[in-house]
Amino acid sequence: MIAGGKTALYRDLAEQLDALLSGETDATANAANAAAAIYHSLPRLNWAGFYFLRDDMLVLGPFQGRPACVRIKPGAGVCGTAARERRSVLVPDVEQFPGHIACDSASRSELVVPLLRGGEIFGVLDLDSPDLARFNAEDQMGCEALAAIVVRHLTRSVLS
Ligand code: SME
Repeated sequence: MIAGGKTALYRDLAEQLDALLSGETDATANAANAAAAIYHSLPRLNWAGFYFLRDDMLVLGPFQGRPACVRIKPGAGVCGTAARERRSVLVPDVEQFPGHIACDSASRSELVVPLLRGGEIFGVLDLDSPDLARFNAEDQMGCEALAAIVVRHLTRSVLS
């Protein structure tokens, strides 16, 4: 881990993300840049990106990594569980998570954070790692802060 540890890493990334998304209101552009910034800033990831709720289905959004499953039902897999329960889901070992959806066989651990607006979910941020137990509570808090920034910058265009 870099000097300063995860706290500094997430603080710096939050600042960069906020600056990167400021001044643009297009949801696709901002989600795409957010996925790229997160993927290239956080170590030991093999996938980072978004699913957005469309007609009660999570549909693949901008991401970095290998091609992924396009549609996930709320309640299914890690993403669908996070969406249905409107909470972050941290999975240290995907093989131990009942119903985990394996998009990339290299994934060993996963963190999914809901995108919430006024208590309502409109998507999820999904991070996969090829390492077991890659994510801990610090990553969850850091990624929830990143998700809040993304939500703030997506809200205007997603609503319109
Ligand atoms: N593993 C996820 C599916 C999405 S991919 O990881 C990109 C899940 O179980 O919901």
